[in-house]
Amino acid sequence: MARAKIALIGAGQIGGTLAHLIGLKELGDVVLFDIAEGVPQGKALDLYESSPVDGFDSALTGTNDYKDIAGADVCIVTAGVPRKPGMSRDDLLEINLKVMESVGRGIAEHAPDAFVICITNPLDAMVWALRQFSGLPHEKVVGMAGVLDSARFRTFLAMEFGVSVEDVTAFVLGGHGDTMVPLVRYSTVAGIPLPDLVKMGWTTEDRLAEIVQRTRDGGAEIVNLLKTGSAFYAPAASAVAMAESYLKDKKRVLPCAAHLTGQYGIENYYVGVPTVIGAGGIERIVEISLDDAERAMFNKSVDSVKGLVEACLKIKPELA
Ligand code: APR
Repeated sequence: MARAKIALIGAGQIGGTLAHLIGLKELGDVVLFDIAEGVPQGKALDLYESSPVDGFDSALTGTNDYKDIAGADVCIVTAGVPRKPGMSRDDLLEINLKVMESVGRGIAEHAPDAFVICITNPLDAMVWALRQFSGLPHEKVVGMAGVLDSARFRTFLAMEFGVSVEDVTAFVLGGHGDTMVPLVRYSTVAGIPLPDLVKMGWTTEDRLAEIVQRTRDGGAEIVNLLKTGSAFYAPAASAVAMAESYLKDKKRVLPCAAHLTGQYGIENYYVGVPTVIGAGGIERIVEISLDDAERAMFNKSVDSVKGLVEACLKIKPELA
């Protein structure tokens, strides 16, 4: 069987890390696309030259021409600019909305059958805009946020309990950012829900509340440490897990920004919910019942997603 083709739109910090992980996991051949001349070509060649050492077979190429992504099975989008000092959220939204327009057109023209994973921020609005600009089926365009947010939650819980990260599961809902909803009662250590672990004396409700807040602020914590950029290792690993589930039809249950058609009472927005990713793309949305406090947090999160989409529509009314 021919190797899968994976196009990475944006060859910055996350794009380069994605290419490396995809090579190491032998998920397929990689095409790195960027508007910066030389950068995707240089990163691709450098990574290709690591493959004899690490023993993986993956052809890695770089390009500034959308023609080269032709027939890609998966496209992972990180193109855009990060928020810089002095730039408002709206400034960022306007710039990256323009980027999504060119990326959406490029994918629609050259890789219309791809499974598209958007990482560019502000995520819940950019994935919606990318879907509108590209016109691809909703189940084939998805945003990466929940896998990253739940990975951060799992990391902090494993640190707290002194147990393997592998035995910690975590559940998050809602938009990416400070309104995300980490669901404590659906998060577990080896199947034991966190509230039970409080009863068992492993932790306290106050400590859990601190860990939830640290998870919400997880992106900012890294930005404050790095000072010149945002997180890239964990975001790349998270998107690769989603791509792998699609390419291998694993049907993993992963939290993603997915298009809702009435689930959770939401119509026609992209919001972070648990999904099943298989060969059909987003094959199922997992709808759980929420208690009143969780519902209130979820609604607040959805309101912020709606605000971002309205801001996009003010700039580009034709997207409606
Ligand atoms: N088309 C293609 N690539 C573009 C375009 C465009 N129109 N505009 C910018 N780029 C490229 C830049 O040249 C750069 O190489 O996107 C890349 C972005 O890389 P970085 O600035 O290193 O950003 P990165 O850390 O990879 O994050 C990318 O993901 O998490 C989000 O907030 C983050 O939106 C940001 C995105």
